[in-house]
Amino acid sequence: MTLLRVENASVRFGGVVAVDDVSLDMDEDRFLGFIGPNGAGKTTLMRVITGVLRPWRGRVIFRGEEVTRWPVDRRIRFGLALAQQIVRPLASMSLTDNVAIAAGVHRTASPLAALLGSGRGAERGKAKELLEFVGIGDAADARPGELPLGYLKRLEVARALALEPKLLLLDEPLAGLNQAEARVMADLIASLVGNGRSVLLIEHNIREVARICPELYVQDNGRGLVRGPAAEVMASPEFRRAYLGEQAA
Ligand SMILES: Nc1ncnc2c1ncn2[C@@H]1O[C@H](COP(=O)(O)OP(=O)(O)OP(=O)(O)O)[C@@H](O)[C@H]1O
Ligand SMILES: [Mg+2]
Repeated sequence: MTLLRVENASVRFGGVVAVDDVSLDMDEDRFLGFIGPNGAGKTTLMRVITGVLRPWRGRVIFRGEEVTRWPVDRRIRFGLALAQQIVRPLASMSLTDNVAIAAGVHRTASPLAALLGSGRGAERGKAKELLEFVGIGDAADARPGELPLGYLKRLEVARALALEPKLLLLDEPLAGLNQAEARVMADLIASLVGNGRSVLLIEHNIREVARICPELYVQDNGRGLVRGPAAEVMASPEFRRAYLGEQAA
């Protein structure tokens, strides 16, 4: 079944067309790598999918519903989650509470109230499990400001997972990690796919993306260039043009 369908989406910022008539769809239980040079409009398209941005033209359909005008929180409750390129955890709270707030989203209209209320034990328990799962259980009681970027990137993934998404959107989860850390994180991300969960992964680390993603979609200058099995895409003239410059095509 089709999980997500973006139809002819366009986004402009003043004179810049950041996303230019893009259509993209994804089925359930799929893992799609979303690549393209800096400024290709990858993050902008993610924002259209999550509802942070309304497209100037086009539609977003998720789980059979047109969600183009839905606010972000409603989309989250309906099964979308985003781990952002720039991580912004709540600085005054422990990692556990940062994740527990997200875990409370499906239980009450006010996740903060859930954290303060009677059910907080359950949310914190789940948060600790997720921190263990992403490999940062040792820092459960620390505050984000005390931790290196590798921890914060994993915290961001744990927060997104706490939302129990059907579609998990990851924006450069490997950025800032060293090669060994990136490999571990990439394997972790690959393990999230399936059992009703799809992952759309934006990444510049092509080596890891090509290793873990069965399918790739390439965007450049706001336009969708090519989509297909990873090996085919990487051998395509469109991929070579986007990454190696005109002369390679
Ligand atoms: N809020 C904004 N206001 C104005 N211009 C923006 C805004 N967000 C993005 N842009 C512009 O839209 C274009 C696409 O940006 P976007 O961040 O989506 O690219 P990207 O593919 O995510 O790049 P990167 O790989 O560097 O993260 C760029 O030209 C960028 O400068
Ligand atoms: Mg980006």
